[in-house]
Amino acid sequence: MRVNDLDTPALVIDLDRTEANIQRLQAYCDQHGLGLRPHIKTHKIPALAHQQLRAGAVGIACQKLGEVEVMLNAGIADILIPYNLVGQAKLERLARLARQGRLTVSVDHEVVARDMSRVLAAEGARVGALIEIASTIERAGVVDVAEVVRLAQLIDDLPALDWRGILMYPTNADNISLLDRAYRALRDAGLPPPVVSGGGSPFMLRQAEVPWLTEVRVGTYIFEDMTGVKGGYFSLDHCAATLLCTVVSAPTAERVILDGGSKTLTTEGGAPHGHIVEYPDAIIYKLNEEHAYTDVSRCPVKPTIGERVHVIPNHVCVAVNLHNVAYGVRGDEIVAVWPVAARGLVQ
Ligand SMILES: Cc1ncc(COP(=O)(O)O)c(C=O)c1O
Repeated sequence: MRVNDLDTPALVIDLDRTEANIQRLQAYCDQHGLGLRPHIKTHKIPALAHQQLRAGAVGIACQKLGEVEVMLNAGIADILIPYNLVGQAKLERLARLARQGRLTVSVDHEVVARDMSRVLAAEGARVGALIEIASTIERAGVVDVAEVVRLAQLIDDLPALDWRGILMYPTNADNISLLDRAYRALRDAGLPPPVVSGGGSPFMLRQAEVPWLTEVRVGTYIFEDMTGVKGGYFSLDHCAATLLCTVVSAPTAERVILDGGSKTLTTEGGAPHGHIVEYPDAIIYKLNEEHAYTDVSRCPVKPTIGERVHVIPNHVCVAVNLHNVAYGVRGDEIVAVWPVAARGLVQ
């Protein structure tokens, strides 16, 4: 089967580029003695997670327990969940899953740690625990070094949690002083973090500059996307995931409509809503659910009805999450058809 035989819109993965992206970062991490722990939130496909592990990854990260379930069932045991798990239902589920693999979670507050340990202990389960430290994005994470030390001492004492270390997202090499100070304070308190987990694809090739780092956690690096290209972090030539779309209407000389709208590309990142590989001068300026409004006025040759184009999305992780199936291609040939097994698993 060839790409031309696919109905559209369709998620198409260039396997040569994907493998090159995996190898490039693995080589960097190997060179610097860092463990690479890919975050599967980007691809959500067990076969690609296995490929990352075969290349040398030390384990994977999942954001949701549903994703953990899929990956455990696919035979992947070492999984980090860098997210506070809150609520009885989630914690009971975590306890069940913790018996099937080597799970590590992150926590950023005493309440989260105590509740987790209580539910896990009642179920006879245990997990490793990292403390999330606040970063420049001011999302979750402990903001105070003394509090990090108190929480580490608590984790060390709690019956169902094993002290594993610290985590930050992203570790932007220009601003990780809190991570550095937290590490030193923990070491002085007799709890040196065995694991220091950082990451973020935009900063991936500077992770060796982050002091104490042991693991690099990255997701988008496997496909790259237009957000990273526009930010100057990624290259168009490395972008491996595209949405194959058909020109379904050409109402004027300036405007064509593609059959991939917000349900194919997402509206993340705003206009332009991705980059059309075959028509770099075209601009997708607006999306409805199933329509991409495309300005072709600057294109020397205009796309015509029935023509098919590849769109690199703005944010590849959320675009992949919209698709049931991914087609792995080499050149023109479809060599893999994968269910996006962990898509839509928001719990
Ligand atoms: C906690 C955490 N770790 C790692 C990642 C991976 O980031 P990136 O896709 O930039 O590599 C994310 C992305 O959202 C994240 O939230």
